[in-house]
Amino acid sequence: MIKKRKIDHLRICIEKDVESGDAGFGGYRLLYRELPEVDFDEIDTSTSFLGKKLSYPFIIEAMTGGSSEGGEINKSMAEIAQKHGLAFGVGSQRAALEDSSLEETFQVRDVAPNIYLIANMGAVQLNHGYGLKECRKVVKMIDADALALHVNPLQEAIQPEGDRNFKDLIEKINKIASKLDKPVIVKSVGSGLTLPVAEKLKVSAFDVGGVGGTSWSIIEGCRLGEKALEVSESFKSFGVPTTECIVNLSKTGRPLIASGGVRNGVDVAKSLALGAKVAGMALPLLRVYHREGGDGVLEYLDRIFMELRISMFLTGSSTIKELDGKIELLG
Ligand SMILES: Cc1cc2nc3c(=O)[nH]c(=O)nc-3n(C[C@H](O)[C@H](O)[C@H](O)COP(=O)(O)O)c2cc1C
Repeated sequence: MIKKRKIDHLRICIEKDVESGDAGFGGYRLLYRELPEVDFDEIDTSTSFLGKKLSYPFIIEAMTGGSSEGGEINKSMAEIAQKHGLAFGVGSQRAALEDSSLEETFQVRDVAPNIYLIANMGAVQLNHGYGLKECRKVVKMIDADALALHVNPLQEAIQPEGDRNFKDLIEKINKIASKLDKPVIVKSVGSGLTLPVAEKLKVSAFDVGGVGGTSWSIIEGCRLGEKALEVSESFKSFGVPTTECIVNLSKTGRPLIASGGVRNGVDVAKSLALGAKVAGMALPLLRVYHREGGDGVLEYLDRIFMELRISMFLTGSSTIKELDGKIELLG
């Protein structure tokens, strides 16, 4: 059941228009310096995330696992992350908790021994029989550096089979974060995160997953047929745009992953200038992979990183740290 749903999700993301609203990047301008006083060739794009050095401030976001196709995508994306010095997240590991034969479709350490690797589980599962034991298990299953607990109340509300009891989850997430021996990241998947909730969460980092990128409302609508699509259309851009999430959550002082509608290297630079530590993408990478395989994704990321480098050059930033704050709201 979960396996079939996950395969449907991949197919829909490749075939349909599943992006929502506007992440807000167009509303901001990086501060241009016509004499950057920087040597382009000396620009250093490296950074660190939760104690690990990355060559670029970038994460290949969680997408899949739990099927042979998903396993191939995970291996390929992890290999790319290893080559480029990026972070990488696997998709929800719930399928492998229910069927251990699927564990290998999430395991990538053989091809990516050094990457910052993030395990993944739905936070709502903490209300549906899972707890610290399962959190430890998904981390151990893939030898992960951190655990992302994703929050997707909109998706669960639209799915007829969705898990919709979201009571007391803040307390349960905090308990996991205090007991797990790896950092916990709370991750949204397209509707964003807000400051009042983030301030209550005692986790190590946030992945904002804001409005403007992949919409789980649209995906579930496409999967479930015409009637559901009408409901999902009404909610396709429900939540908080990515740029607004970054600005708001940077007040927590905790590391942020910018995701949801990051679509080029200028968006990556804007995310960092607004206060994110790294930026991430899912949908564009999946589509390039589908069309052109792993080599296509490598080439695509080379373009993204060149755009980031040019953005750093044009703002007079020779390091990622120097990008911080070099942005203004338009008009
Ligand atoms: C096909 C697909 C599957 C995804 N599956 C998961 C998942 O299992 N767990 C999760 O936390 N996020 C999942 N996501 C969300 C992404 O990790 C990311 O946060 C979100 O899509 C926003 O980025 P984007 O606009 O670049 O796609 C998935 C995204 C896509 C496109």
